[in-house]
Amino acid sequence: MNTEASETEPDHGSQNPYLEISGLEFSYGEVKVLHGLEFQLVAESIGCVMGRNGVGKTTFLRNLVGLETPSAGKISIEGKDATKLEAYQRACNGIGYVPQGRQIFPLLTVEENLLVALEAAGITEKSIPSSVYETFPVLHQMRKRRGGDLSGGQQQQLAIGRALVTRPKFLVLDEPTEGIQPNVITMIGEVIRKLVDEHGMTILLVEQYVDFVRKFSDSFAVMNRGRFVAKGSVDELDSSTIHKHLSV
Ligand SMILES: Nc1ncnc2c1ncn2[C@@H]1O[C@H](COP(=O)(O)OP(=O)(O)O)[C@@H](O)[C@H]1O
Ligand SMILES: [Mg+2]
Repeated sequence: MNTEASETEPDHGSQNPYLEISGLEFSYGEVKVLHGLEFQLVAESIGCVMGRNGVGKTTFLRNLVGLETPSAGKISIEGKDATKLEAYQRACNGIGYVPQGRQIFPLLTVEENLLVALEAAGITEKSIPSSVYETFPVLHQMRKRRGGDLSGGQQQQLAIGRALVTRPKFLVLDEPTEGIQPNVITMIGEVIRKLVDEHGMTILLVEQYVDFVRKFSDSFAVMNRGRFVAKGSVDELDSSTIHKHLSV
């Protein structure tokens, strides 16, 4: 895979990136949280944003999906400027978002949670795409159960399933493995890998587990105090970076 040929460019930046962010800044009131972020993600790949709690990872994703408005910088997706688009416009343009902490509706059934997502996206079709149940068979088995009665791992599958009903091209997930059993973590990793390798999706996730990143991701970016302090392909994620910037 690695060639010695000096004329070959490194993978990063040599292809037109699917996602390209430059000079991204964001403040909560007077408090600046994101400081001139530069970030790229190649199409049909998985990228992981890593970093300790409170460094700005969620804020970064919320700016990316349009739930916050950056004070400076540019976000382009597939070469088109998306900086000024509202969250719903970005959703219509194929971005799916799975927020941190799942945020499903506990009193609605699994099926109703999925239907609400269809409706929220303005899709008039009233049936859940079979691909969602094929991806997460447990959601089909549990479709009449209330969201709040599912286990943490099942709720996370529901949260991802809810983002998939709109058939996004670009999926953004905030700590999908937080507080979940190891066997479900592996299953989620295999699912997102398959969405990329077999369905051509592009995926960006916030992830704290180094092992998960090593196993399932293509690239990584480590954030510290609102800045990216290390980036690269996943085979460049070394232990000194991990010990310096991550809680392990
Ligand atoms: N709604 C908010 N209002 C004010 N400050 C916030 C808000 N959300 C997050 N913050 C602050 O912004 C910083 C980054 O938070 P966050 O993006 O959630 O970090 P992470 O996801 O890396 O844990 C933290 O200092 C946090 O306290
Ligand atoms: Mg967070």
